Amino acid sequence: MHHNGVMSIGILTSGGDCPGLNAVIRGVVLKGIQIYNKKFVGFKDGWRGVIDGDIIPLERKDIQGIAKQGGTILGTSRTNPFEGNGGADRVRENMHKLGIDSLIAIGGEGTLAAAKRLTDAGIKIVGVPKTVDNDLSATDYTFGFDTAVQIATEAMDRLRTTGDSHGRCMVAEVMGRHVGWIALHSGMAAGAHAILIPEQKTSIEQLCAWVRSAKDRGRAPLIVVAEGFKLDSMDDAHSERGLDAFGRPRLGGIGDLLAPEIEARTGVETRATTLGHIQRGGTPTAYDRVLATRYGMAAVDSVIHARWGRMVSLSGTSITHVAFEDALGKLNTVPQSRYDEAAILFG
Ligand code: F6P
Repeated sequence: MHHNGVMSIGILTSGGDCPGLNAVIRGVVLKGIQIYNKKFVGFKDGWRGVIDGDIIPLERKDIQGIAKQGGTILGTSRTNPFEGNGGADRVRENMHKLGIDSLIAIGGEGTLAAAKRLTDAGIKIVGVPKTVDNDLSATDYTFGFDTAVQIATEAMDRLRTTGDSHGRCMVAEVMGRHVGWIALHSGMAAGAHAILIPEQKTSIEQLCAWVRSAKDRGRAPLIVVAEGFKLDSMDDAHSERGLDAFGRPRLGGIGDLLAPEIEARTGVETRATTLGHIQRGGTPTAYDRVLATRYGMAAVDSVIHARWGRMVSLSGTSITHVAFEDALGKLNTVPQSRYDEAAILFG
């Protein structure tokens, strides 16, 4: 692509996808063109496209109508820009060649950690926080989370009616590697009889007591469990699916592990359902579209104001910005008070 001396802003989406990524891209490009008369290009597949110099045009016609589309029109990957033939020099060289003077990186912890290293090496980057898990610090919410909660809640409402018909205990497994926000919110919304999250180890006896008490009241017990949950007898989260590209165990399957245990101990017939990537697919909720659009527009403001090394963030109802390091290093876990509040409704 020829840049004729006019510099562009490059956009990339990196890490696991989530609904709302396209709304960010649209917000960036619309405001950037309308207000600042800037030019944009998209990198394909996250840092992979930055390292390989693989770009696509992002003009107004390319972002038309995409706020409601799930996924990302740019593609994503879990590529680390410092691995293989990557590195800050390579990124700088490619940007120069392609006529790109700054980057907007949309991603979670891994993406922002890489962005911080590149910023430290002098590359101009602003960040936009993204995770369905809502596990990033220094922002009240990340987009994608509300959609995942909505999907999980609807799924549990459905599990409820079949559970009720058969008098069964239904276990719904939701995402949440290190934090239980999706489980907490969807469980509370769906009226679950227990919410099991990575932050709170629980005994099988306690879990079965909640199941029995719901059953004794004539209810079909509904349990929501985050994939990263550990019984008090477990050292690590349940994993039977090998490692991902970052060498982290791929989680999933704790619901299938708990269901026969619950059935054996309580005598209540039990079924487990793992929602998996359904929670990351499809159209974003209105809340996520609005949040993502506002993040996108704020990110282009950050570029204009040269706020390198900072990510846009939500504080109450305002969009602000924080240093990458404030968002990294410590996860946004479910506080004890939020769990205790939810636990009043268990059993
Ligand atoms: O980080 C978001 C997340 O959806 C986690 O909840 C989950 O453990 C992981 O990504 C799944 O990753 P992948 O899409 O690579 O299987």
